[in-house]
Amino acid sequence: MERRVVFILALLVAGTSRSEAVGYCSEYGGSPYDYRELLCQSLVFYEANRSGKLPSDQRVEWRYDSAVDDGAADGVDLEGGYYDAGDFVKFAFPMGFTMTFLAWGYISYEDGFVQAGQVEYFEKTLRWATDYFLKSHTAPTTIWAQVGDSDLDHTFWDRPENMTMARPSFVLNETNPGTEVGAELAAGLAASSMVFQRSDPAYAATLLTAAKELFDFANTYRAVYSDNIPEGDAYYTSSGYGDELTWGAIWLYRATGDDSYRALAEQFYVEFNVAYGASFNWDNKKSGCNAVFAELLGGEYLTFLQQNVAEFRNNYVTTPGGLHYFSQWGSLRHALNHAFIAFKAADLGIDVDANVEFAERQVNYALGTNPSDRSYVVGVGKNPPTHCHHRAASCPDIDVPCGWTYFDTPDPNPHILYGALVGGPDENDVYADNRTNFVQNEVATDYNAGFVGTLARMVINQPL
Ligand SMILES: *[C@@H]1O[C@H](CO)[C@@H](O)[C@H](O)[C@H]1NC(C)=O
Ligand SMILES: *[C@@H]1O[C@H](CO)[C@@H](O)[C@H](O)[C@H]1NC(C)=O
Ligand SMILES: *[C@@H]1O[C@H](CO)[C@@H](O)[C@H](O)[C@H]1NC(C)=O
Ligand SMILES: *[C@@H]1O[C@H](CO)[C@@H](O)[C@H](O)[C@H]1NC(C)=O
Repeated sequence: MERRVVFILALLVAGTSRSEAVGYCSEYGGSPYDYRELLCQSLVFYEANRSGKLPSDQRVEWRYDSAVDDGAADGVDLEGGYYDAGDFVKFAFPMGFTMTFLAWGYISYEDGFVQAGQVEYFEKTLRWATDYFLKSHTAPTTIWAQVGDSDLDHTFWDRPENMTMARPSFVLNETNPGTEVGAELAAGLAASSMVFQRSDPAYAATLLTAAKELFDFANTYRAVYSDNIPEGDAYYTSSGYGDELTWGAIWLYRATGDDSYRALAEQFYVEFNVAYGASFNWDNKKSGCNAVFAELLGGEYLTFLQQNVAEFRNNYVTTPGGLHYFSQWGSLRHALNHAFIAFKAADLGIDVDANVEFAERQVNYALGTNPSDRSYVVGVGKNPPTHCHHRAASCPDIDVPCGWTYFDTPDPNPHILYGALVGGPDENDVYADNRTNFVQNEVATDYNAGFVGTLARMVINQPL
């Protein structure tokens, strides 16, 4: 189906009601589906999840400084970065994936950010992560890979500003290595160096130096990171580091043009079976590798990418309402991550109509073209979720004590977490806007990363 036809269908399904644009992005024309507004909102979400000392241009006004002493007990400065998901732990592995995916979205669809006036906001979003990772990389073979104790953290329903529990830090180094984290950070910092190349070349060079060191560390001292940070193991267990090594190498090749990285990337691609069993999320980088290899190297990699996206379209459940259903936990994030890969394939001329139809259907489903006739983006569109599983947004104004009663209450969140994509419906398109159901209502920095990139692609094709 043609793109335009899909768009018109979306308008018909969503009805004629055009609501006003809201919140921090009110310069836009409103919905249904002003992708520029949505791109703007999707970045506002990241402001709400900032850890550390907040800058004066922070837009989300119900957040304040928090966790400014992170790392102090270990004599390191680990202030900053992003809180992860339903909690206040900072996990470098998914945060690193978030950084890489955000940067990749920008590199792929910069025009979308330009057309939506979001370049500056995007750079701030990305820099909040890259600055943190530069800090956490205190020596060539060292990464502080987690701050916070997940179990302690999960007993606490409150704002990060009012945390009182201990925030231990966990390190990866030569005797306690973790390949996934180093290789993912290498990929993300290399990709980010490409983003900042024009606006801040000195910063871009710093990022690239760190990326090379981290890649060497990851490749030389090999171990599954979650074996060496048992704390992280319970939450973000890695299924293996081969995909991250491949991902780190191909991004370093892309950022440097150095053929030795290309040779390593191609070697790992075969050694770790990257062509097959693909998906794309914080743990699995294989489909991302397929797309980047196809784009940079062409040839047989185009075929592998074609097979990979055809599998997404044909070999998984499609809900009655048209959602590509990969798994229950955060169903929409998987759909949008895979939509991004399908867009990349279409951009390379692979099964263009089928891939564009598939990808646009996923995005528009999340925005409201679905059997529940509702938006899955907090604060935006028709009947958006009002009970997302987000501690800070569920708490009242800063001076009023929070706690578990705010978790249990059927009342909506007092603060609107604009631009956050919630987990999403089940395989029958059924969804409950219920804070206690974190499988459907959690929001996360990695969930929003694919959303940002696919929205930028949609902006480029949006009839103005
Ligand atoms: C970060 O996001 C999670 C949900 O993804 C939320 O529970 C947490 O409270 C957020 N942190 C802040 C500071 O808003
Ligand atoms: C690596 O970190 C562990 C855990 O903190 C520490 O015991 C060990 O001495 C460190 N090794 C090096 C080489 O710094
Ligand atoms: C939470 O922390 C903020 C910032 O330190 C403070 O202003 C506020 O009074 C605290 N709220 C409660 C309920 O203690
Ligand atoms: C939310 O889900 C919980 C657990 O399934 C249930 O006990 C509660 O009644 C639900 N709340 C609302 C408002 O439906």
